[in-house]
Amino acid sequence: MTPGEYRSRFTEWDRRSWVRSKPRRDSPFTAGGHYFSPELCPLSACPEVRAASDDVRSALLVHSLYLHLEFTVRLEMGPVNEICALLRSPGFLPWLPAPMKDDVLRIYTDEAGHAEMSNKLKSAVLAETGVVPIDHRPRFLTELAALYSAELPVYRPLVKLFFAIVSETLITGTLTKLPKDPSVQPAVRELARDHAADEGLHHAFFRQLFELLWPRMPFPLRRKIGGLLPRVIHAFLWPDEPALLSVLRSMPGDFADPARIVAGMSASERTRDGMLRNAKPTLRMLRDNGVFADPPVAQAFLDAGLLA
Ligand SMILES: [Fe+2]
Ligand SMILES: [Fe+2]
Repeated sequence: MTPGEYRSRFTEWDRRSWVRSKPRRDSPFTAGGHYFSPELCPLSACPEVRAASDDVRSALLVHSLYLHLEFTVRLEMGPVNEICALLRSPGFLPWLPAPMKDDVLRIYTDEAGHAEMSNKLKSAVLAETGVVPIDHRPRFLTELAALYSAELPVYRPLVKLFFAIVSETLITGTLTKLPKDPSVQPAVRELARDHAADEGLHHAFFRQLFELLWPRMPFPLRRKIGGLLPRVIHAFLWPDEPALLSVLRSMPGDFADPARIVAGMSASERTRDGMLRNAKPTLRMLRDNGVFADPPVAQAFLDAGLLA
């Protein structure tokens, strides 16, 4: 792909973007509605959780929603919009076509809206349920910081850029499945549906960015970044073990051994399968662009369990 071949998906942004054209979704909460989909809660298959009372399992779903919403706020305001700002600056990848530099501001605006609306829903659920969110730093930020600090300063913007590319080319099961689960509160389903619609356009932008950028990178740099990508995907998709541990510890009367429950979740096939399923769109993009043609890079994906 060449810069002249960029196809903007934002020509109807004023009409299609959530923050530009759709109302705030604030459907009233319904009695008995789930606050998150049990199918999407990584703990819900654990025997100790299945044996818990309805009230405890409901509270766990509220916490799962909080973790998802806080993840969204910190992702959008953090690495994704930091990279949007960087991409917009004239000195960074100056060969990017002008329409891409324009579109990146539209993504920046969308993401700020997603963060605000997620934050608002979190407050509304707290007011409705009285379930207090745990204080935590999302795991992906810790992982990203570790990846970042392991590299020389010259590589760090690239690490963050590829983190943004990976996260923006994955539309996770949470966003696509939540709207379809009739057991979930309408306000939660509507938020996920509107967010997923915007992310479909972002996906197209970041896929094209990858297709422009990857072939322009010198081979040793492709090998270096390619070898880091499995950790980037893992950082983004693996369940937030420390946060889930804190959630279970906040219910000491109900869960005697939180560490064992989280370890069981992490070792389960369900968790591994979930990551692989969610990673598919990005893995397809990497395969289509020949990333796995370099044996050391393919080996890194094999070692991480991301390639069959
Ligand atoms: Fe978003
Ligand atoms: Fe996005």
